[in-house]
Amino acid sequence: MKILGIETSCDETGIAIYDTKQGLLAHELYSQIKLHAQYGGVVPELASRDHIRKISPLIKSILAKTNITMQQLDGIAYTSGPGLVGALMVGASVGRSMAWSLNIPALAVHHMEGHLLAPMLEKNPPEFPFIALLVSGGHTLLVSVKGIGKYQILGESLDDAAGEAFDKTAKMLGLGYPGGPILAALAEQGEAGLYDFPRPMIDRPGLDFSFSGLKTYTLTTWQQSKQTEQDKANIARAFQEAVIDTLFIKCRRALKQTGMQRLVIAGGVGANKYLRQKLNELDAEIFFPRLEFCTDNGAMIAYAGAMRLQAGQQEPTIIQTRPRWSLEDLADIT
Ligand code: KG4
Ligand code: ZN
Repeated sequence: MKILGIETSCDETGIAIYDTKQGLLAHELYSQIKLHAQYGGVVPELASRDHIRKISPLIKSILAKTNITMQQLDGIAYTSGPGLVGALMVGASVGRSMAWSLNIPALAVHHMEGHLLAPMLEKNPPEFPFIALLVSGGHTLLVSVKGIGKYQILGESLDDAAGEAFDKTAKMLGLGYPGGPILAALAEQGEAGLYDFPRPMIDRPGLDFSFSGLKTYTLTTWQQSKQTEQDKANIARAFQEAVIDTLFIKCRRALKQTGMQRLVIAGGVGANKYLRQKLNELDAEIFFPRLEFCTDNGAMIAYAGAMRLQAGQQEPTIIQTRPRWSLEDLADIT
């Protein structure tokens, strides 16, 4: 089966074709970073309009690149949520209409399921069961994954997501957008051991997270410093270490609590170098997607949709988006 995947949940238009026999055939990504940078964050209305501009040229380009005609597609998978409603509507309407005109099935994919299955696109994919740490701009989730659709949320952020905390802290430090990677790069210039930042919620039992206090702590530390460029780098480093250490501690706890041996990291913050290094210290098998599949992309959506369509999952032909959608509501296909 050849499945076209469409991702338009936020500020990236991602298109891919996944073949259930041959694997990923190609993927294309258009990032709206330049468009939103001047506003210091994603402007939802501009995001929707830009998806409209880019989606058809990207689909045409991937078909040309793979030498596949529209008529050779067996299904279309598009991100239906969670995400920005206008942005989601672009992918949903194009995906559904195309599938309808070609008389092939379309499937609404959960964006976070896409992220959590992204390591399946790699050479050495994890076997079930595993724990997934999903760290994106909108979510911080620890999930027990026993199969596709067999998800139990073990812990989540009670306030800001990890990526959101990176983005907001970067903004407070005047670092611009997208904050996560800029702050991470600056942290590399910082000196270690100068500050003693808190690791939120590690003294409490359970697997939930809270990052908003850490953001305020960082701002206060910055305001009380001499505010030199080196101070900024040192504080960025201390902030990054506090977030990553907290994620590390909760992953270790989740593995111990469930007795599972494998840990999958996915979502934009999964691209963080220090996180990737640190988690390797865990006594478990660790699986990361390649860097470009940590952040939003069409390949993960094509893969998740392909698995579900192959298992025979069907949906009514309505255009539906779900800006809020729990992973635990997904159909179990195993
Ligand atoms: O998964 P993703 O591309 O989009 C969402 O689904 O939200 O994640 C984007 C998030 C942003 O908050 C971004 O700042 C963060 O991931 N991010 C990073 C890094 N690269 C991206 N955070 C920390 N370090 C990075 N290297
Ligand atoms: Zn994402």
